[in-house]
Amino acid sequence: MLSFYKKKVAGWNWYDLPEVISTNDTIKELSEKDLPAVVSAAKQSGGRGRRGRRWQAVSGNLYFTFSQSIPVSELSRYVCIIGLSMAKVIKKTAPKANIKLKWPNDVFLNGKKVTGILLENIKNNIWAIGIGVNIVGSPDIKDMPYQATSLKEEGIDTERTAFLEQYLEQFSSDLAQYEKEGFEPLRTEWLKFALNLGQEITIKNDEDIKTGIFLTLDEEGYLILKIDNKEERIIAGDLFI
Ligand code: BTN
Repeated sequence: MLSFYKKKVAGWNWYDLPEVISTNDTIKELSEKDLPAVVSAAKQSGGRGRRGRRWQAVSGNLYFTFSQSIPVSELSRYVCIIGLSMAKVIKKTAPKANIKLKWPNDVFLNGKKVTGILLENIKNNIWAIGIGVNIVGSPDIKDMPYQATSLKEEGIDTERTAFLEQYLEQFSSDLAQYEKEGFEPLRTEWLKFALNLGQEITIKNDEDIKTGIFLTLDEEGYLILKIDNKEERIIAGDLFI
């Protein structure tokens, strides 16, 4: 493992491996010895997505996971900030692109999904934040109500390791702002990227399905849905239109 050490980036010890099953698993092995760390891989054979789905591999795309200490009471805000930092990095590279955040943190580029994020607990307050970014190619998604795209397909040229560095710098700067100024400025920024804000949406989670108007994101990072003139706080789920 040590031979794959690259350098420190924005405070994380960065390991770039030729091939792994899932970077979320590798970070868990590494986190016994080295924190905070980030693991990326050129190939990922068993990438996981949310809700037990697979994350398909395309050579040249970015797969990485970094460790982060997150107080449990702040988890939902962090989930939003992690996605916001991604939207901002893409916006910096392509200011004219149509970038949207699908609550809580999927990033859509020109109407198609370009990034997926999977948080898994390592131990106590330490989380594995696994991110897949379609840099050069996108898989054919058959069982989802949206298509996938890549930065390259949308005219954005970048390379996976350079993009990883930009992301960690951005996240670290957004986190510093959060610690100094609180969640409000980031919540405002998040809302500017929000997909389907003010529209009728459906949220599905393990317990139920709810349809209503997407009113806002609250101060905790939860989605506020207006159902029959009442406001409901949605803590987790997948958003559909
Ligand atoms: C999703 O949108 O369903 C989340 C996808 C997360 C994929 C990334 S790729 C790097 C990390 N390792 C994994 O096995 N999954 C995440």
